[in-house]
Amino acid sequence: MYVLEPKRFVDNIIEELRVRYGDANRVLAAVSGGVDSTTSAIIAYKALGDKVIPVFIDTGFMRMYEGVKVKEMLRNLIPLEVVDMSEVFYRRIEGLSDAEVKRKVFREVFYQVVSDIAREFRCEYVVQGTIAADVVETLGGIKTQHNVLTDEFMGRYGFKVIEPIRDLYKDEVRAVAKYLGIPELIVNRQPFPGPGLLVRTVGLFTREKLDVVVKATEIVEEVLGGHGISQYFPAAWEYEVLEEGKVCSDVCIPYKMFKVKATGIKSGGRVYEPIALVEGIEGLNYYTVYRYFSEIGVSHVIVQITDRGVGKYFVSVRAVITEDFMTASVASIGVELLRELASKLAVIDGVRAVGYDVTPKPPATIEYE
Ligand code: XMP
Repeated sequence: MYVLEPKRFVDNIIEELRVRYGDANRVLAAVSGGVDSTTSAIIAYKALGDKVIPVFIDTGFMRMYEGVKVKEMLRNLIPLEVVDMSEVFYRRIEGLSDAEVKRKVFREVFYQVVSDIAREFRCEYVVQGTIAADVVETLGGIKTQHNVLTDEFMGRYGFKVIEPIRDLYKDEVRAVAKYLGIPELIVNRQPFPGPGLLVRTVGLFTREKLDVVVKATEIVEEVLGGHGISQYFPAAWEYEVLEEGKVCSDVCIPYKMFKVKATGIKSGGRVYEPIALVEGIEGLNYYTVYRYFSEIGVSHVIVQITDRGVGKYFVSVRAVITEDFMTASVASIGVELLRELASKLAVIDGVRAVGYDVTPKPPATIEYE
């Protein structure tokens, strides 16, 4: 079996970047604070020195105070500039509902912003942290990863991309990051999607709903951190019910179907279907309950933990265990911990009910959109 040697990889890629881009004028490195983009920026910085300008673009869909925190964590490695572009993103995305439309508009705004910043700093190249899984998922038609670009797309924005870790998988990136001396907190950080909290503000984008997601993210990361879960986060949408019904196999399970849709995978392709809510039945194994729904076209199945009966939003907690993020199982979190989590989430302004997502990937994707 092939095992990547971090030192050899880093030495080779630095050499390659020097040969290919040594004559470049300046290079912009877009750093999000995730392990992929941070590793890419540091490799580029080691190869090309202060030709490289590392910039954290605050899209408005990041965690609370993320820019300041990332700048501080990387202060001994790269001189990071934080640029707040949130208003530009909000204005373009407000009022959009469809998952793929939101992803595509986000990507367009993101690269327009990158292109404007690159022009401002006179950079002809942009370093970004695309990894192998991003390419595989986009080419496989599951969803539009924001950072996988076509030649036509790049031509439009007037810069070329440098992708030092495009051939690596996540575990290999982490090994390289560790070798480079990137802080543990970033090396082992759970992945955060490029479009950020936008793909967790499910359905119609509003700033109010985003605010719920931002607050819920703080809570979920604090309560579920350190439990060995690969990825854990909340999402929010309106508590609006499309229909109620029952699915029966050995037992009958009553459910509510939310109006909002989310992304799933069926027969290897993308589906975009409503989300089912199960209110809890004594003795039921919730980790198998999603199977009951395979016939009726739902993308995710959520088990309700708490319902206050008033409030506009539903908050879903997603926690998965995975090696490669291409498939994932649901983390089995104890009932006590789930209740503690739900009680903290339910007091966020506007939240009516909280549930735990029990759908593996496939048939759901890890993110909702
Ligand atoms: P899905 O939702 O496709 O997620 O099962 C698989 C992994 O990829 C992350 N993800 C993204 N990462 N840009 C990224 O850089 C994106 O557009 C994007 N969408 C999903 C997701 O968080 C999970 O770790």
